[in-house]
Amino acid sequence: MNAAALRNMYISFFESKGHKKINSAPLVPENDPTVLFTTAGMHPLVPYLNGAKHPLGNKIVGCQKCIRTGDIEEVGDAVHLTFFEMLGNWSFGDYFKRDAIEYSFEFLTSEKWLNIPLEQLAVTVFAGDDDAQFDQEAFDLWRKLGINENRIAKCAKKDNWWGPAGQTGPCGPDTEMFFWSGDAPVPEKFDTEDNLWVEIWNDVFMQYNKNEAGEYLTLEQNNVDTGMGLERVSALLQGKSSCYETELFIPLFAALDQVRGFTEAPTARQASERIIVDHLRAAVFIMADGIAPGNIDQAYVLRRLIRRAIREGRKVGIEQNFITVIAQCVIDNYSEYYPEIERQAQFIITELNTEEAQFAVTLEKGTREFEKLIAKVPAHIERKVISGKKAFFLYETYGFPLELTEEMATEHGFIVDRKGFDKAFKKHQELSRKGAEQKFKGGLADDSVATARLHTATHLLHTALKKQLGDHVAQRGSNITAERLRFDFSNDEKVPRETLNKIENMINQVIDQKLPIECEEMSVDEAKAAGAIGLFGDRYDEKVKVYSIGNFSKEICGGPHADNTGELGRFKIKKEESSSRGVRRIKAILIEE
Ligand code: SER
Repeated sequence: MNAAALRNMYISFFESKGHKKINSAPLVPENDPTVLFTTAGMHPLVPYLNGAKHPLGNKIVGCQKCIRTGDIEEVGDAVHLTFFEMLGNWSFGDYFKRDAIEYSFEFLTSEKWLNIPLEQLAVTVFAGDDDAQFDQEAFDLWRKLGINENRIAKCAKKDNWWGPAGQTGPCGPDTEMFFWSGDAPVPEKFDTEDNLWVEIWNDVFMQYNKNEAGEYLTLEQNNVDTGMGLERVSALLQGKSSCYETELFIPLFAALDQVRGFTEAPTARQASERIIVDHLRAAVFIMADGIAPGNIDQAYVLRRLIRRAIREGRKVGIEQNFITVIAQCVIDNYSEYYPEIERQAQFIITELNTEEAQFAVTLEKGTREFEKLIAKVPAHIERKVISGKKAFFLYETYGFPLELTEEMATEHGFIVDRKGFDKAFKKHQELSRKGAEQKFKGGLADDSVATARLHTATHLLHTALKKQLGDHVAQRGSNITAERLRFDFSNDEKVPRETLNKIENMINQVIDQKLPIECEEMSVDEAKAAGAIGLFGDRYDEKVKVYSIGNFSKEICGGPHADNTGELGRFKIKKEESSSRGVRRIKAILIEE
């Protein structure tokens, strides 16, 4: 079953069980301070898992675009993907364990749906620990449905617990479903260590909220959050051992072969080829959500993906510009389900062309730097070494992968201190991990009063920017913690301090009017007709929430917000800077009075 068919089938199944379909949220989370990218289907839904009312009701199904960059160095093997789609069904305080497990079972095994033989399935349940007890209920439910006891593994929190996505937030035990992917007969006993058992679906029972003190408090509503990786499961159902062997990637490899002048596809794919198609696929999706390559945050991740794809291209002998050929193929493959890709096609291709041209210059500079480095070592020295630090410098500054430096080193009779490189690399990783943890501070979509106020201030800023700079201003990203707001918007030029002052004044005047913040539910069309701004273009088929602040601002949004602008204090812009090409970033705070 190809991915498109699986996507449709999953959605139809849950629609037949009374779920409402939502479109994917953008890859760049709005108003979520904790992560750069949406990493799971539940991310955009956190406010509803925390108790807010979803405009479409309590039972939701969808397919969410996700990016996970944690394993980026692993991409190249047969399983890792940077971008993937996650199917999921959610219950916000509606059904719980019994229905969730029965739905999963029916979808997987029923003839009408995936029709997977019971024999090929196994499950895990949470074994229990000091924080929460053994999930007896899930265990009994699986037994009742006919899963043999030796096909149910009890696992600890490290395996059978999900969330919170940040340091605090909704979380709970999960039950995971596994599929036997081997050719050999299915073993009697389920061994979670055996790689031929592949995880295909995860039902999370969100019963707890982890608070800042690290305590697990019972949530007021019991939620279900499930996730099924579309690429992986579709590959398994096609009897393929890797996603890269499916229709999602075959055309991309074919385009690559064409670039290389191959008339026939090679029998096996190399890591470099996988990296190229994976990274460019991810890059297209990120750009479709409005990000251009740059030096910070999402823009930087995007730049790394593109540059790594180009370097891998060089490694397999591609000298000419090629990335837009692959990107066009991604655009063609995905535009039907994700219309934003088609809408952004022009932007994507233009930005990729610019980036590829710029990177060619960087590569050249790096090569010169490398040559300078080796020229410093006197010819008579026998054991010529490029230190780990220097190799890392080339990696970090010019994007030279270690292998490239090693290859060039060998050509000149040098060796590279690999251990030293690894050390420098680990140190750097440690630092970026700490940086990432920093970002998690405040918790996932934390709904503290301070954050809600800054969220309201963000709406005021959005409107004030439009009024001062013009209608071309559109939100490109937003990130709010309890301490500050950060807002990215489209605008080519730096905003002068004078204009920033005007914007501050405008906002502070609205604050002084002590306007109530009002929320109404309406259809997207009604919202548009009412002049609401906001990014949720494709998101909801039926109803959205529109937050109004007097006559000043009207914006589609999920909340939470302050009740009255009078609570906000003084609005102050701390910084205005470039975020990526054509996108500016403002950091602002509220000062209590
Ligand atoms: N959030 C869970 C996961 O990512 C289930 O959707 O696996």
